[in-house]
Amino acid sequence: MCHGADIKGTGPLANKSDPPTPDLTTPAFKKRLNEYPGVIVSSVILRPNGDLIPRTLRENGVKLSPFTWKVQDFRDLNQYMSGVISKSR
Ligand code: HEM
Repeated sequence: MCHGADIKGTGPLANKSDPPTPDLTTPAFKKRLNEYPGVIVSSVILRPNGDLIPRTLRENGVKLSPFTWKVQDFRDLNQYMSGVISKSR
C-alpha cells in the first residue's frame, strides 16, 4: 500500500504518508539493514513511528482486518524484503 511490492516507495499511499514512504532499496537503506539486520521485523513489532501506519491507512479509507503475526510470517517477510533489496541496484 505504501512501500509498494517493489518496496521502492511506489505504493498508492506513498505520497500520502507524512513523511512520504521511503524507497527501501537505496544504498542508504542497504547500509542500515547491514548494520541492523532486525530493522525490517522490528519496524512491525516495535512500531517506531507510533500510529503513522494505521493513521495513514485510516485517513485514506483503507480498511485492513486485524492480523495476528506468526513467527513464520516474520521470517517470510524478512526473507522476501531482504531478497528484493539484495537483488535491487
Ligand atoms: C508490514 C508492512 C511494513 C513493513 C515491513 C515496513 C518496513 C519499513 C522499514 C524497514 C522502514 C525503515 C525503518 C528504518 O530505517 O528505521 C520503514 C519506514 C517507513 N514506512 Fe514502512 N513498512 C511497512 C508498512 C508501511 C505502511 C503501510 C506505510 C504507510 C501507511 C509505511 C510507511 C513508512 C514511512 C512513512 C516510513 C518512514 C518513517 C520515518 O522516516 O520516520 N510503511 N518501513
